Amino acid sequence: MTNKRLAVLTSGGDCAGLNAVIRAVTDHASGTHGWDVIGVKNGHLGLLEDPPQVVGLTPDSVRGDILRMGGTFLGTTTKGDPFAFLDAKGKPQDRSGEVIAGLKKLGVNALVVIGGDGSMRLFHRLLGSAGIPWIGVPKTIDNDVPGTDYAVGFFTAVEVVGEALDRLSSTAASHRRIMVLEVMGRDSGFISIFGGLAGGADVILMPEIPYKIDAVAAHIKKLTDNRPSAVLVVAAEGVKRPPEDRRTGGSVGTSIAHELQVRTGIDARCTVLGHVQRGGSPAMFDRLLASSFGVKAVDLLARGQSSRLVVWRGGVVTDIPIIDVIRGPRFVPADGELVHTARGLGIHVGEING
Ligand code: F6P
Repeated sequence: MTNKRLAVLTSGGDCAGLNAVIRAVTDHASGTHGWDVIGVKNGHLGLLEDPPQVVGLTPDSVRGDILRMGGTFLGTTTKGDPFAFLDAKGKPQDRSGEVIAGLKKLGVNALVVIGGDGSMRLFHRLLGSAGIPWIGVPKTIDNDVPGTDYAVGFFTAVEVVGEALDRLSSTAASHRRIMVLEVMGRDSGFISIFGGLAGGADVILMPEIPYKIDAVAAHIKKLTDNRPSAVLVVAAEGVKRPPEDRRTGGSVGTSIAHELQVRTGIDARCTVLGHVQRGGSPAMFDRLLASSFGVKAVDLLARGQSSRLVVWRGGVVTDIPIIDVIRGPRFVPADGELVHTARGLGIHVGEING
């Protein structure tokens, strides 16, 4: 006999490891506890449909390659704010009540939301007084969810950055070029500093630390003894362009490559890694995180907990109140261990005081 109907959904941008969380939630909720489990299609959009779009989930339906599959087989969305949902005429409508109505229509009395800090904010607002217990699971390649050392999907993105640097390194060496690799991360530099350190970058630029293009060029000239030579630069998409960089078109990485070529006389190219960082099979650590998070989320619901986020802290899976998460994104500490490590390796990471 089952006394709970648990819904699981993925929300926000996809990443690797989402299916592994859905698998863990399903296995533990259905397999261990005998709960009824359903997956909501396309994030909250599935709940705005009539009837709500869901699929039944059992340990059998998530067996096999689900663990290894990138993306989310439930679908997700970054669109359609239910508090200001654009109607056919483009006018914003408050449809938040319909999301709750959808969950109630389905008989859902436990919910797992797999998402980033934006999704946690959204569901905190949506579920405020709905009386449906829910638990959040952090995912994002940006690793910017407050309160957790790591979010699902981050390490896969870092692997992709590392592999890209390995590949760029050989072509850079053949042509004695500067290779700028622009990586994602929004306003946080976790992907750039982790990927850049692991992939042997000579320069790592991130949103948290300002840089001067002249100082970067001087570092490269010193490194190469003023002769063409292979140089790897990692630039986060969210770096703050210095005032001397007046180019408006193109990506920030392209602009950095251009400016460095002009200043050093070394041929420079830019690769914008883009959504490659979000796709593909999850890295092993992401699978481990996803599995631990999924089981923990169900444990919390079984204990009657709600409005909490499962987190990884110092090698332990634990949980924190959602309210501690929704204050906004997390940033790389500019005076922290990773920046210290980079500087200790002679990597140029910009300067806090410009
Ligand atoms: O938040 C994840 C992320 O991939 C960011 O790193 C990036 O800036 C953004 O999403 C891209 O969003 P979209 O897929 O909507 O282009």
